Amino acid sequence: MKLQSVRGMNDVLEPQIFLWQAIESRIHDLYRQFGYVEIRTPIVEPTALFKRGVGEETDVVEKEMYTFEDRNGESLSLRPEGTAAVVRSMIEHNYLRENPVSKFYYIAPMFRHERPQKGRYRQFHQYGVELLGSPDASSDAEVIALHSLLYTDLGLKGVELRLSSIGCNDCRPAYRTLLSGLLEKELANLPEDFHKKIHTNPQRVFDLKNEGAKVVASKLPKVLDHLCENCRVHLNGLKNRLKDLGVPFELDPSIVRGLDYYNRTAFEFTSSHLGAQSAAGGGGRYDSLFENIGGKATPAVGYAGGMERLIMLLEDSNPAKRPRPIVYFVGVDEAGLQRCEPLCFELDAKACIARSSMRRNPSKLS
Ligand code: HAM
Repeated sequence: MKLQSVRGMNDVLEPQIFLWQAIESRIHDLYRQFGYVEIRTPIVEPTALFKRGVGEETDVVEKEMYTFEDRNGESLSLRPEGTAAVVRSMIEHNYLRENPVSKFYYIAPMFRHERPQKGRYRQFHQYGVELLGSPDASSDAEVIALHSLLYTDLGLKGVELRLSSIGCNDCRPAYRTLLSGLLEKELANLPEDFHKKIHTNPQRVFDLKNEGAKVVASKLPKVLDHLCENCRVHLNGLKNRLKDLGVPFELDPSIVRGLDYYNRTAFEFTSSHLGAQSAAGGGGRYDSLFENIGGKATPAVGYAGGMERLIMLLEDSNPAKRPRPIVYFVGVDEAGLQRCEPLCFELDAKACIARSSMRRNPSKLS
């Protein structure tokens, strides 16, 4: 049997690797410039973290995790995303006691057993930030504006910011009950595998791709008309802050993030150049996640984008395919080759890529 890489998991080879390196370096610089500190958490976590953090009823946990028992019989999973692990780490190290508002970033591989297609892989990489400890709309604005800046800075065209609020524990239950009641009357127009979600997560109707479901969704009441006063004030604060920062956005109440931990702010950067998988990245506020996984109530907001999708968007206009000039030295004989090697070293030190080799047949050299 020919050994190949696992389906949906890719090698990154030259010349693409140059673009990866250039972008990663830009992302590291930008995040650090804004006071975010890198965090590295393990690739493998207890399965329970994602069940409680991301939500047992989400597609990610229900169908897409790489879960296995280790030799001690403990259920472990390859992380499908980064947020739950960052929060787990904060709780474990009681980190926020000394640093009540903390800002972290990561660029790291994630794993989801999805059907591979363009822009969707089983191992993919996310760059992202988590701003922990602040309930203020200005923190949401910072996270959003930072990525708007990143995309402008990288010269991405056609990237749009779609913004919504999905309410909080005060206003969401009533809105969900309203949706569930209306959806019960539309069973015939909704895909069967969605029927069980009508009561557990009816808002996911806005994410269905099926034509009949899209018609149903278009007639449903919109979440933005059912926010409580506090959520409305928060969203208005965020909108004003984004305007102050010159970040254009479009309000889109059909945004439902695929992970259960969000409340209030939900947003995505999308690009029509990405095809069916149009989300360059997504994020939002998650004020209940700390408590859900055993910590103290802590407000937080974050965002993650997909590296592969960013690479796709940049590939055509890639100025960094060859970040360094390549210089070749050919030694016509052993003595010549010996002279080449220090020259290569000297050029490498000056950030060229230098290679030396010995000409096989010096007599043919004109
Ligand atoms: P997410 O929307 O599930 O959010 O993923 C964020 C981004 O990761 C997506 O918009 C997409 O660009 C990329 N992505 C997701 N799945 C795949 C895949 N199978 N193949 C390629 N790219 C993919 C989160 O994961 C949240 N943790 C984001 C967040 C951070 N929210 C708060 N803080």
